[in-house]
Amino acid sequence: NRSLKIAPSILSADFANFGAECEAIEAQGADWVHVDVMDGHFVPNITFGPSTCAAIRPHIKTVMDVHLMIAPVDPYIDAFAKAGADVITAHVEAGPHIHRTMQAIRAAGAKAGVALNPGTPASSVEYLLDMVDLVCVMTVNPGFGGQKFIHSQVEKVRQLRAMIGDRPIHIEIDGGVDPATAPLVVAAGADVLVAGSAVFRGGSVSKPAPYGANIKAI
Ligand code: DX5
Ligand code: ZN
Repeated sequence: NRSLKIAPSILSADFANFGAECEAIEAQGADWVHVDVMDGHFVPNITFGPSTCAAIRPHIKTVMDVHLMIAPVDPYIDAFAKAGADVITAHVEAGPHIHRTMQAIRAAGAKAGVALNPGTPASSVEYLLDMVDLVCVMTVNPGFGGQKFIHSQVEKVRQLRAMIGDRPIHIEIDGGVDPATAPLVVAAGADVLVAGSAVFRGGSVSKPAPYGANIKAI
C-alpha cells in the first residue's frame, strides 16, 4: 500500500503524558505512531525501552512503529515484540549481522525495518530487500529531534525506490520532515513520513494541541 502515511514521533511529545499524547495524535490524523528508542551508546541520547512501549501500547490503535537506535539489537527484539511493536526497525550500522537481525524480527512476529544513517549508502541494504518490510532513510543524524533535513538523502530515496522495484516495502523518512521537505521525499518515492517537531510544535496535551493542523500541513 503506497498511500502516504504520517508517523508522528513521540520523541517530541510530553514524556510525562505519552498515553494522552498518543491518543491526541491519533484522534487528529496520525497514521502510525513512531517510537524512538535510544541507548546512549549507538546514539548520544537516551530515551526509554520496552516497558515504556508496553505502557503506551494500549493508547495506540494504529501501528506502533518502533525505531531502535541501540546496539546490540538482537538481545532486545523479543522484548519489543512482546511490548506490542508492529514494526521494529534496526540500523544497518548497529552491528555486523543485520541479516540475522532482520530474520529475528520477523521470527518474533513483527514487521522488519532497516534504517540507514546519512553516511550509509543505499547499496548497504541490497541483499536485505527480500526480507524487509520497510527501509528507513535517516535524513538527520539520529539522536535528537528538531535537526535540519540533510538534502543529499533525497537521491538515496530515489535509488532505493528503484532498487525495491515492485516489492511491497515502505520507504520511511526520519528527520527534519516538515511542509517544505516532505514533498521532496514523496516525489523521490517515500511513503511513510516520520515527523516529530513539525507535529508537536505549538502544543502539549495540557493545552489545546494543534496536532491535526500540523499533520495536515505536512
Ligand atoms: C531522530 C529520531 C526521529 C526524530 C525526528 O533520531 O529518529 O524520529 O524524532 O524528529 P524531527 O521530526 O523533529 O526531525
Ligand atoms: Zn526515529
